[in-house]
Amino acid sequence: MRELSVSEEVPDEVVALVREARRVVVLTGAGISAESGVPTFREVQTGLWERFSAEELATVEAYENDPALVWTWYRWRQALIAAVEPNAGHRALALWQQRLADVDGGWLAVSTQNVDDLHERAGADVLGHLHGRIAAHRCADCGEPDELPPPEFDGFTAPPEPVDPPFCTHCEEGLMRPDIVWFGEMLPASDFDASSAAIRAADLVLAVGTSGMVQPAASLPLLGLERGVPIIEVNPQETELTDLVDFAIRGPSGEVLPQLLQAAGIAGRR
Ligand code: OAD
Repeated sequence: MRELSVSEEVPDEVVALVREARRVVVLTGAGISAESGVPTFREVQTGLWERFSAEELATVEAYENDPALVWTWYRWRQALIAAVEPNAGHRALALWQQRLADVDGGWLAVSTQNVDDLHERAGADVLGHLHGRIAAHRCADCGEPDELPPPEFDGFTAPPEPVDPPFCTHCEEGLMRPDIVWFGEMLPASDFDASSAAIRAADLVLAVGTSGMVQPAASLPLLGLERGVPIIEVNPQETELTDLVDFAIRGPSGEVLPQLLQAAGIAGRR
């Protein structure tokens, strides 16, 4: 593993990897949305919510014990996500995806653990939403999806009090929940399988803004490792994946990704 800083010039080996890659998989985590203003999972929360960690709220048990608390936290986060914009990191990946789509046999697959839609709003197609989507909802009992009106929170001020989730309009008995994956739940098989297949076919893998602590998503880069595919980590901090990667670029993804594309002549090319 070679560690690089965002302030250094991108070394030739990394430039060559990015320039020559035709089949790229980018695994993203909460860190890519941090510069948009979406807090990552292991940050301390404020106000009433200071007592709860995001990890504690992201479980089936938490929802079953206190549906109002978990429901309100996620609706608030949904409001926050709707109020923020994609950042330069999301935009760089969308651009790279478009450029590779014009290359014979080229593609870039985004597989994300994020439940936000910031990749899509930056113009990228997402192959795998490994942990679901926060704006989608389903009944916790019968499983029927349902469209809900946008949350009434402003997204920036934490809700003062938890409110109950609405009842399902199909079975009229179950409570609604976000259509996301909580700890202890299965990942959507199609998203996970598509992401695994892409990594098995990739010639370059990037792990961007993920702590690599949550399985099975964190094991995806290992599929590349088995085949000797180069892996580049983009993260200001060391992670569980760091020892496995070829290059770790230390810096915020909103700076590092545009810098990589620029150095490889991908950004700014027509
Ligand atoms: P984490 O919150 O665990 O980790 C965020 C990572 O982003 C950390 O490694 C930070 O160093 C890094 N980071 C922070 N700012 C960054 C920036 N500007 N640019 C790049 N990286 C930055 O988030 P995930 O790894 O996505 O699961 O967490 C995985 C899963 O755990 C989440 O999907 C969620 C959570 O509990 C569920 O809800 C099931």
